[in-house]
Amino acid sequence: MTVPKTSTASSRAKSELYASLAEQLRSLLAGERDLIANAANLSALLYHSLPDLSWAGFYLTKGHELVLGPFQGKPACVRIAIGKGVCGTAAAQRQTILVDNVHDFPDHIACDSASNSEIVVPLIKHERLIGVLDLDSPSFGRFDEGDAKGLNEMAEIFIDSVSL
Ligand code: SME
Repeated sequence: MTVPKTSTASSRAKSELYASLAEQLRSLLAGERDLIANAANLSALLYHSLPDLSWAGFYLTKGHELVLGPFQGKPACVRIAIGKGVCGTAAAQRQTILVDNVHDFPDHIACDSASNSEIVVPLIKHERLIGVLDLDSPSFGRFDEGDAKGLNEMAEIFIDSVSL
């Protein structure tokens, strides 16, 4: 199969962007183990560094729910049951979920009518689900496997940085 040049170039650019963000995140979190502080800095880093986002932030596990954590973007819904919406589904399945068109996702929870695509990465430390990292975009199909890989690396750095 021939991969179009533009796709190769853009996937290389994307992996370079995430490599640079991973380096910035390591220095931003160095020496700090507070979950809220580190989540706040990661959401700000992502929101201000990745193009074409409308929201970047966290939902944190409290009992059988996810509760809104640090984020950047417009105000969002506060509580999401595990298993509901894109966030709750990623939490229940413990898998990254990429949604090209949120309007086609049967259980999508619309916080912001401007959001058209979404990616959610579950955050697991010592087999415990501590929450999810959620990014939204106004563009359809904004997120791909390169974003999933890059954001999982960012999530790993964040998880390693925090004390529970
Ligand atoms: N759309 C999410 C809800 C959270 S907002 O996007 C910030 C969902 O369906 O779980």
